[in-house]
Amino acid sequence: MTPLRSLAAPPRTALVLSAGLGALAVAFGVALMTTAGYLISRAAEQPPILSLTVTIVAVRFFGLARPLARYLERLASHDAALRSLGRIRARFYERIEPLAPAELSQYRSGELLGRMVGDVDALQGLYVRGFGPTVVALVVGTTSVIVTAAFLPGSGLVLACGLLAAGAAVPLVAAAVTRRAGRRQVAARAELTAELVEVLRGAPELVAYGREGETLARLRAADYELARLSRRQALAAGLGDALVVLTTGVTVAAVLAVSVAADIDRVLVATLALLALASFEAVTPLTAAARELSATRAAGRRVVELTDRSPLVRDPDEAVPAPQRRAPIALEDVTARYASEDEPVLTRLTLPLPAGSRTALVGPSGAGKTTVTNLLLRFLDPEEGRVTIAGRDIREYRQDDVRGMFAVAGQDAHVFNSTIRANLQLARPDATEGELWGALREARLDVWVSTLPDGLDTPVGEEGERLSGGQRQRLTLARALLTRAPMLVLDEPTAHLDPETAEALVRDVFAAAEGRTVLLITHRPEGLDLVDEIVTLGG
Ligand SMILES: Nc1ncnc2c1ncn2[C@@H]1O[C@H](COP(=O)(O)OP(=O)(O)OP(=O)(O)O)[C@@H](O)[C@H]1O
Ligand SMILES: [Mg+2]
Repeated sequence: MTPLRSLAAPPRTALVLSAGLGALAVAFGVALMTTAGYLISRAAEQPPILSLTVTIVAVRFFGLARPLARYLERLASHDAALRSLGRIRARFYERIEPLAPAELSQYRSGELLGRMVGDVDALQGLYVRGFGPTVVALVVGTTSVIVTAAFLPGSGLVLACGLLAAGAAVPLVAAAVTRRAGRRQVAARAELTAELVEVLRGAPELVAYGREGETLARLRAADYELARLSRRQALAAGLGDALVVLTTGVTVAAVLAVSVAADIDRVLVATLALLALASFEAVTPLTAAARELSATRAAGRRVVELTDRSPLVRDPDEAVPAPQRRAPIALEDVTARYASEDEPVLTRLTLPLPAGSRTALVGPSGAGKTTVTNLLLRFLDPEEGRVTIAGRDIREYRQDDVRGMFAVAGQDAHVFNSTIRANLQLARPDATEGELWGALREARLDVWVSTLPDGLDTPVGEEGERLSGGQRQRLTLARALLTRAPMLVLDEPTAHLDPETAEALVRDVFAAAEGRTVLLITHRPEGLDLVDEIVTLGG
């Protein structure tokens, strides 16, 4: 398993800088309190004013330097946190990209969303909120103890015990108490996100079938569970903070008692007590950091579980050069299945697709027609047999080269929440206005688009929800025609159309695809007279 450390590490300089500045800021705070305490108590004895000059300058210096150091520390730590976040995100996407779509489809989209956003975000704090405060506590705590011990060893010892209790014992207890709750909180939040995304997607169906009541109840239950866990966390947080305050108070009182008993200079008594009080600023953040650690680690585990999966489909170490544009493609004796426990979807299928040929693939629903597309695009690798381009197994090519050979339209093609123009330009960013309209004409969509007030700039809505089923399908068709890919895969391009439009559309598309290899997947008779070969998949 990839250690979380390597996934979430910000650049070392940013980290050291933020920890160093943090230590400086707290050290200046302690020094300010100590010198100010000394100045006030000493001034009460009304010594000659000149004897106080150095202390006055020191108070001024620490007073000004502390906010400055704190400000710089905030800049540095935010910089480190954001850089860390940037790195995690980039690595996360890099690692999960090869998993799509075969393995990612095992996760609910809300679940993936939760991991991509919430869990990844939680990781940024691992270093900045964990490493920084620990360094600050060690450096400033030790220095305070040494300084105190130099004046009065007994007080130094008392302070050391107090700081250890507040900076080590309380955080350890806090971490132990919240460990389970933190893990469950991360899981509960993920569950709520997953439920919410699903409810939002399916809202029209839920309302239409009158099932919104129970769905809302389920959501409410998930929400209630999350709130309950958060309350418990908050209670633990409050108790932890209270313990730290209590320890601070007791320690300062003890330092005072020891100093008074030692019968030292009374100015020193006040100074040591204030130094002790201020030094607790160094250890206070540790309790919160320890409390968050378990939630952060749980989030990290969920991220690593995803990034550590080795992709089912991967590039060869030494890929052969990209295939020629006009290359024959074939499925040879292919057996394929989605998960090892399932029945194979295709068994020993052979399907030659010579360059420039037109093939129709027909068969009942669920026969594996779309699976053939997935095999061609290497979204899935065959269990036995092979898919070839120009006679070579497609596993010998780079995935990008293979996918560049195909343009897919129809059934599962995604329409983006953007304009008609942007959806088309996905296929060819440099397409001219004329080419865009040409593709729309071939897909029999030009008349409709020209009646729209905004024409090509009409937004299509999320997943093209502002289009009818047929319009959506023809938009993906126009997009596929726009690409320069040598092979077109048309998955049920006429499914939503009336017979006449369907007939004309298929004719136009075949004319537009002149010279390209076409695989037409269909349930319907249109276009079957135009193909060279009809292949029927078993039912
Ligand atoms: N991502 C997937 N994970 C697991 N099983 C899948 C997946 N996609 C499809 N299947 C299964 O594979 C079988 C074939 O599906 P496929 O989509 O290839 O059928 P099809 O012939 O395209 O059907 P239709 O005509 O309805 O589009 C189905 O039984 C389906 O349950
Ligand atoms: Mg299908």
